Amino acid sequence: MTRDPAHLEIVTLQSHALQQHACFSDNGTLAWILSALSISSKIIANKVRRAQLDDVLGAAGAENVQGEQQQKLDVIANDVLLRTLGEREGVAIVASEENEEPVIIRNQAQGERKYCVLFDPLDGSSNLDVCGGVGTIFSILLQDRRSGKPEDSLLQPGVRQVAAGYVLYGPSTVMALTLGQGVDLFLLDPAIGAFVRVAEKVRIPKANKSYSLNEGNRLTFPVGYQKYLDWAQANNYSSRYAGAMVADVHRTLLKGGVFMYPPTAKAPNGKLRLMYEANPMAMLIEQAGGKALASPTQRIMEVVPTDIHQRTVVILGSGDEVDHVVKHLQ
Ligand code: AHG
Ligand code: MN
Ligand code: MN
Repeated sequence: MTRDPAHLEIVTLQSHALQQHACFSDNGTLAWILSALSISSKIIANKVRRAQLDDVLGAAGAENVQGEQQQKLDVIANDVLLRTLGEREGVAIVASEENEEPVIIRNQAQGERKYCVLFDPLDGSSNLDVCGGVGTIFSILLQDRRSGKPEDSLLQPGVRQVAAGYVLYGPSTVMALTLGQGVDLFLLDPAIGAFVRVAEKVRIPKANKSYSLNEGNRLTFPVGYQKYLDWAQANNYSSRYAGAMVADVHRTLLKGGVFMYPPTAKAPNGKLRLMYEANPMAMLIEQAGGKALASPTQRIMEVVPTDIHQRTVVILGSGDEVDHVVKHLQ
């Protein structure tokens, strides 16, 4: 991570996106989409911070497509993202954890470059009631015009993502973003209402004796994961688990270690969603020099999706720590 105090250039997310847009030869379309994600994050950060004052904590009373209880803020965050992205010309299709079907914004005229945006509007929402960290995760793909149905153009493997990121609403609001050339971090300065770049080309530590998973499920993990945990505990590893993927992955990115959601009796294919949780996190972690696997022999980003809401096993983090897990699974 580099931030040379003698060279304190102030770069906002907006200027960063405009600087980079030359790489995409899309007349700034991606920069426009990032600006929609930026304004959404500022609105959501504000709503999350005021949640109890505005009486928007707790369940909305409905279940989402995953059969999970929607929190009021899941619905609010989803609406904010749909409203900001819906205005952007360059967005062809939007898909969200909270909507069963992709929300098709518009079909493009031939020859136009358009993007698909997939997101988890509020990740870790059950942490809201206890003022724990929550986040937004997003993945951006170019629309694949080879497919007949617009919806099908979403079903691309993660290696085709052109950008991915998350926003963590914690003590600070921080965005991690990759446009395929490393990972940069931006901190929201509430006084000026802008995300300011605070780190460029972040590298995940190569190793750190720390694992992050829901150990309450240990008895129903496949035996390899149980052996890994025995090994890690015998080797003085620390256990860290916030229960919100964005918070757990952010810590893993900065401090190293391994984050996992293995198969369990309740979720035999893993719990986390491939397209708007695992893929964007995998792109960020790989761009920072780490590893992100769906199995000992497959990268998350190589999984070919058949459903926008499909789940995957996740093993990601420092290269050496992912290798230790894989050794025990074989
Ligand atoms: P969401 O709130 O978007 O449904 O995601 C919750 C996810 C993820 O954030 C976290 O890593 C995982 O669920 C935690 O699951 P367990 O409670 O089963 O550990
Ligand atoms: Mn989530
Ligand atoms: Mn969510």
